[in-house]
Amino acid sequence: MSTKEATPAVELVGIEKRFGAIQVLHGVSFAIYPGEVVGLVGDNGAGKSTTVRIMSGALQPDRGELYIEGRKVRFDSPIAARREGIETVYQDLALAPHLSVKANLFLNREELKPGLLGKLGFLDEKRMGEEAVKKLDLLHIKIKSMDQLIQELSGGQRQAIAVARAASWGSRLVILDEPTAALGVEESKMVLDLIRRVRDSGVPVLLISHTMPHVFEVTDRIVVLRQGRVVATAVTKECTLEDVIMWITGAAVHAG
Ligand SMILES: Nc1ncnc2c1ncn2[C@@H]1O[C@H](COP(=O)(O)OP(=O)(O)OP(=O)(O)O)[C@@H](O)[C@H]1O
Ligand SMILES: [Mg+2]
Repeated sequence: MSTKEATPAVELVGIEKRFGAIQVLHGVSFAIYPGEVVGLVGDNGAGKSTTVRIMSGALQPDRGELYIEGRKVRFDSPIAARREGIETVYQDLALAPHLSVKANLFLNREELKPGLLGKLGFLDEKRMGEEAVKKLDLLHIKIKSMDQLIQELSGGQRQAIAVARAASWGSRLVILDEPTAALGVEESKMVLDLIRRVRDSGVPVLLISHTMPHVFEVTDRIVVLRQGRVVATAVTKECTLEDVIMWITGAAVHAG
């Protein structure tokens, strides 16, 4: 669990970002410690996705620093972030619907090992299938066949594959932007279970969600963004749904 003495897995310090004349992030700072699920919440336009895009190398901050295990890093691309073990599942999932489960689990991985460029092209189907089974077993994900096409799966199963892919390559942090937004009750439950298993496997998770019951069910701490500023950071067990909603809307100011 997070303690002030531990080195954060990932830390943001004073991140600022503007788009043209509009300042979207005003000095965002927070940390994610090993072994925890952190919820990043806030109203529409609060700056959650922008923060995530900076953490995953898709955007560069104008100011501020990013630290991984205490080491200052700069991501000039998403590949740079992945090389540091940060994996992100965006809302649109970025799975290839016409490819199989196992192909998706290995998609675009050649770029992570420049020395072995192209090698996955030769990775034999049998081994890829075996590795895929192992990856999914580890997270208790049940898929009939690794050769099933993504387009034949339910929304929850697709989400599970996307999370599994991130979890199997993300060694330091898995970021999930609205993973349960489009899912039913059962499928959401499966994804929440999966988030816990990823955490228990030792990889911290940053969960972005508007669904407060899910945030309360699965997170250890909650970071609240409002108009591009962190207005509250709280241990989930020590605050109520009402507290968080008031911080999100600005109806109350966090004391701590
Ligand atoms: N590429 C861009 N160019 C200009 N403005 C942008 C760009 N991306 C985001 N913004 C603006 O930055 C602000 C923060 O957006 P962001 O997507 O980070 O919010 P969010 O907290 O993820 O919201 P939501 O809950 O609706 O997904 C918004 O006002 C948005 O319009
Ligand atoms: Mg967003």
